[in-house]
Amino acid sequence: MKISRRTFGLSLLTAPYVLRGQQGPLRARIKIDTERTIGDIDPKIYGNFIEHLGRCIDGGVFDEKSPLSDSNGYRKDVLEAARNLNIGILRWPGGNFSSNYNWMDGIGPRGQRPPRLEMAWGTVERNRFGTHEFLTYTGMLKTEPYVCCNLGTGTWTEAQQWVEYCNSSEDTAMTRLRKQNGRQDPWKVTYWGLGNEMDGPWQMGHRSAEDYGKFALEAAKLMKWTDPNIKLIAAGSSNFGPGSDWTAWNRTVLEYLRQHADFLSLHMYVGNRHNDFGDFMASSVELNDRLKTTEGIIDAALSGQPGNRRIYIAWDEYNVWYRAGGRGRQILEERYNLEDALVIATFLNAFVNHAHIVKIANMAQLVNVIAPIFVNGEGLFLQTIYYPLQLFANHTKGRALELYVDSPKYANERFGDVPYLDASAGLDAGSLVLNVVNRHRTEAIETQLELEDKQFSGTAAVTEVNGPDIKSENDFGKTLVKAVERPSPATGGKLLGYAFPPHSYTMLKVKLA
Ligand code: AHR
Repeated sequence: MKISRRTFGLSLLTAPYVLRGQQGPLRARIKIDTERTIGDIDPKIYGNFIEHLGRCIDGGVFDEKSPLSDSNGYRKDVLEAARNLNIGILRWPGGNFSSNYNWMDGIGPRGQRPPRLEMAWGTVERNRFGTHEFLTYTGMLKTEPYVCCNLGTGTWTEAQQWVEYCNSSEDTAMTRLRKQNGRQDPWKVTYWGLGNEMDGPWQMGHRSAEDYGKFALEAAKLMKWTDPNIKLIAAGSSNFGPGSDWTAWNRTVLEYLRQHADFLSLHMYVGNRHNDFGDFMASSVELNDRLKTTEGIIDAALSGQPGNRRIYIAWDEYNVWYRAGGRGRQILEERYNLEDALVIATFLNAFVNHAHIVKIANMAQLVNVIAPIFVNGEGLFLQTIYYPLQLFANHTKGRALELYVDSPKYANERFGDVPYLDASAGLDAGSLVLNVVNRHRTEAIETQLELEDKQFSGTAAVTEVNGPDIKSENDFGKTLVKAVERPSPATGGKLLGYAFPPHSYTMLKVKLA
């Protein structure tokens, strides 16, 4: 028999006890009203990130010596796997790396570019992949580039001239240099980061919130005067350690940048450090809380300001990351399992459920380094976390819908009662896409989907990400966790019943009439 923590008043229990008053299958209801919209789902919430770190770029995206690469050095198999992720925006060159990166080192003939000591990750940067290589790659991927400037050791002029080099049509020293390096037309890069994780003492050029706010403001002015069409992403808080007041950083930074920043960047990495499935699966509760709090901070910063400025959230680094570390070449090569993939699905649910305010989100990172794609010299395999991202990015589009989810819950020490079902929905061209994670480790949840204002039409396509066990991992030649099509459930007008299996993420796609 399952017992309720409430019934017994055991507030310190950490195991997930089911709160249910009756025996029999666990049941839930999800009500859907297509008029209750949250906002437009921006394809850029399905973004990714490549950093000069370990084997992400050098030996991942780009490997000039590999027989699997094209004549320019791009790994063709990686490119194809990345294309299938339908990446909405790609961030580069870091991360921590960006805080001591001089972009001028990465232009001009490859053989003449200077090797530099790289202090973020303790290596030597050979600079063979720079601005031209990155922007060619985003062109091949048909994705939006997002360039993160060095606001650590860099200068205002470096940031301004990078925008000029990439975006200006004037005849200047910078644009002549660009043409000399083989690119006639400006690329018109829209998204520019004002530094990375500047609140972290680990960051090169780390500053106080006031010092960062003042410095970033002057950079922002010069960058926008160079190209008024660009969008700027201010470095919000990433330092959520014990005792950190992450909200204070954001408030102060926005005091300086509220008339210039278009996005506030936030980061979050989570892990199952205590091998507690229920607790780990509740990680997105914290993400949702931070989203809500940050939205309030942005609203407060903009309140009473002239004009109709909007500042959105760019959650431009997120992932599961707690096992792999190190410095040098093969670092941060996290191997993912099923429970990690489920947590990623709940993160994506959170972004969709905040579609009105989250307009950029980047999984960190794309290849090898805390990544959905993992390569060796002979090929690649897709990690478990690849599948939820791929399903969301290819299907959950259009308008996000506000759902009513009535699910059984379990008790969690950190977050209180956590619903077993975590869901989001998008409505696009008459098709409803519903994403449901069942956080229950052992039981299916029989769920009634109720349409308030429409009818289900035709059959529903069901795709499930699951595996034999929550610890199942993929590897070269072994795919235990993947997306699998399931039989379509019967629909009856406004109702559709589906039993979401234990430890699963299910995407259900159905036409509405
Ligand atoms: O993604 C790995 C690192 O995590 C990034 O360089 C940094 O921004 C964050 O701390």
